[in-house]
Amino acid sequence: MFKRHRRLRVNKNMRNLVRDVYLDADDLVYPLFIEEGTDIKSEIPSMPGIYRYSVDRLKEELDEVQSLGIKTLLLFGIPKHKDNTASEAYNEHGIVQEAVRYIKKEYPDFLVITDVCNCEYTDHGHCGILDENGYVLNDVTLELLGKTAVSHAKAGADIIAPSDMMDGRIEKIREELDKNGFENIPVMSYAVKFSSAFYGPFRDAADSAPKFGDRKSYQMDYRAEFDVLSEACEDIKQGADMIIVKPALAYLDLIAKIKRECNVPIVAYSVSGEYSMVKAAAQNGWIDEKGVVMEKIYAMKRAGAGIIITYYAKDIAEWLREEK
Ligand code: PBG
Ligand code: ZN
Repeated sequence: MFKRHRRLRVNKNMRNLVRDVYLDADDLVYPLFIEEGTDIKSEIPSMPGIYRYSVDRLKEELDEVQSLGIKTLLLFGIPKHKDNTASEAYNEHGIVQEAVRYIKKEYPDFLVITDVCNCEYTDHGHCGILDENGYVLNDVTLELLGKTAVSHAKAGADIIAPSDMMDGRIEKIREELDKNGFENIPVMSYAVKFSSAFYGPFRDAADSAPKFGDRKSYQMDYRAEFDVLSEACEDIKQGADMIIVKPALAYLDLIAKIKRECNVPIVAYSVSGEYSMVKAAAQNGWIDEKGVVMEKIYAMKRAGAGIIITYYAKDIAEWLREEK
């Protein structure tokens, strides 16, 4: 006698009854690119539908995001001035700091996550301070990360998300936050972040491509699985409250592995390249955009991610409403 699996697929109500993977607008994080200047709303050529905004134009985007029921934002800054010490990254009146102040004042209900890294702020585009050979110096860079994190918290950030991949950064950031009275601000660590070709469109968006070389001496090698739990556990030990796996789609095995081994919320970052691939194919009429996006977001949830950072957040929120 064989089992009739189709009994539980017989109609929509039956399928909805037995389903066991859920997705909600509460789980979504929407990234925003904020550019220094005024009256800016410029579409990112490699990410159709995604824009850079100046703070004075943010309102139209935030009103829409809020009306869709999305509660959490992830901010990236694009400063006017870049130098070799990333001085705008920790400027109290830098672009991210000003954006956080604006959002928390005008839209206090949004949870605001700030990305802490130097690559948008250095003239060479690397995530830290360089030595004379162009090697990214770890411990010197930690000082900048600590200062940047505190400046974001002072501006009102709800969650700090370091993405630089220096060793020891969580400990340093936690220490600086605590020292400045921000012991209740959580750290969402990009603990498992690979050196990835999927970041290409983001680097156009954030103007953060390295001017020479690559990020392989600090971001992870996708051929080295031994590093995965080591990175995740180390960041948790240093005080990370949540762990990001990035990119997401090609790394679902690692989301599942970390879910099994670590007792913290897991965040999947479905990165720019994942967005642009689907968007381009959809614009060509080659795939069903909604179908493909929902299928892969559910796959991330099923793998174990509770939280999903995605440029498709607005569309997903709308599609979830239609399904209700
Ligand atoms: C900065 C940073 C990057 C992303 C998030 N933070 C790019 C990089 O490491 O080069 C990638 C996000 C995306 O591709 O959507 N370190
Ligand atoms: Zn960086």
